[in-house]
Amino acid sequence: MTSTTVARICFWCLASAGLTACGTGIFEADTKPTPVVWKDPAGFPPMVIPLDNPLTEEGIALGRRLFYDPVLSADSSMSCATCHIPQLAFTDGKAVSEGVVGLEGTRSAMSLVNIGYYHTGLFWDGRSPSLEEQAFHPVRDPKEMAFNWPEAVRRLQQAPQYVRWFKEAFSIRNAREIDSLLVAKALAQFERTLVSSNTKFDRVMREEAAFTLAEKRGWTIFFDASQEMSVSECNHCHVDPLFSDLHYHNNGVQQAPVLEGFADPGQGGVTGNRFDLGRFRVPTLRNVLLTAPYMHDGRFKTMDEVLDHYASGGHAAENLNANVRKLYLSAQDRADMMAFFGTLTDTVFLRNPAFQNPW
Ligand code: HEC
Ligand code: HEC
Repeated sequence: MTSTTVARICFWCLASAGLTACGTGIFEADTKPTPVVWKDPAGFPPMVIPLDNPLTEEGIALGRRLFYDPVLSADSSMSCATCHIPQLAFTDGKAVSEGVVGLEGTRSAMSLVNIGYYHTGLFWDGRSPSLEEQAFHPVRDPKEMAFNWPEAVRRLQQAPQYVRWFKEAFSIRNAREIDSLLVAKALAQFERTLVSSNTKFDRVMREEAAFTLAEKRGWTIFFDASQEMSVSECNHCHVDPLFSDLHYHNNGVQQAPVLEGFADPGQGGVTGNRFDLGRFRVPTLRNVLLTAPYMHDGRFKTMDEVLDHYASGGHAAENLNANVRKLYLSAQDRADMMAFFGTLTDTVFLRNPAFQNPW
């Protein structure tokens, strides 16, 4: 599949003629990347993959390298993985993330688990329509990688291995064809492969495993599955298998006398609709025991605090979702729910060698 001749020409060209000269050299005839036939896990909705960015082995491999390479940050100190750490289900364990120059953002890094299925907008507030578009943001965000695209792209054009990898992934003929669009496409391809479908919960659903008694009780409470047991309303919004309904809701974490008073306007800051103020996209609960602290601003340190919040019914607001209301959960109910949350940890996903740092 790969063209070694082409690669050699390029290395030679870079080595002998100085770094940028390669930009003018035309490569040999096109090579075609290897298509990946995508299969959604059983029970998952179909992943929407853009026609102009099909998954290929070379594209995914390039995206993975870029994801873990600090080359895209101003001082080459930070990669996507600095804030999206695979062992933490691609979060960073901090309440709010900190960028290259130590500037704190206002929001918590989001898990990238099953990110290819979030077709209703990315980010807590939904301001990005696609993974391809999303990838532009962190590089130039002053509170993240604080860089600019022309320089980031120049770095890649001057790195012989990258020229080769871009050629393999996108059949470009010339190092100058490397641009931010292709970087974004490669990152998006890698991110679409980050699929979690092997938690104990999934295995129980596939009848390959059985819940313990406590897990089963927790499952029943989470899904309001028995009239004899407590209800939690969780499943209205954290819908399986993604554990998100992909919609935006106010779950009552922010307190303000009027909607306009929320510290973070959430989706309303994007749509301009006041009823969207304080609404955030429902995050997944897969691997939830690993993604503390919780909520868009990381305000809750533990799942205990999260359960306290929901049990309290949340802060009143005009657009508070009706499913957030006072709950009556016993200590036993809460312990059982915690046992159930443990079944959402996907060790197969967390240890998948294909998702780790390739460098
Ligand atoms: C400084 C930390 C930081 C770095 C570096 C960073 N991110 Fe993020 N990422 C965040 C934060 C914080 C959010 C949530 C921001 C928001 O909602 O406003 C986020 C959100 C995302 C989302 C949206 C997830 C969702 O569920 O909607 C994606 C995708 C993403 N990042 C991918 C990347 C990629 C790709 C890179 C590298 C090019 C990257 N991030 C670099 C902190 C970071
Ligand atoms: C009305 C819809 C809704 C209901 C019902 C709901 N949630 Fe949420 N949940 C959300 C939204 C929206 C967020 C993000 C809010 C934010 O970040 O400000 C969220 C965030 C969370 C988080 C934080 C995850 C993270 O990675 O930061 C956890 C944990 C959570 N919910 C658990 C639960 C549990 C447990 C229940 C049931 C007791 C529940 N939720 C009920 C909508 C809901």
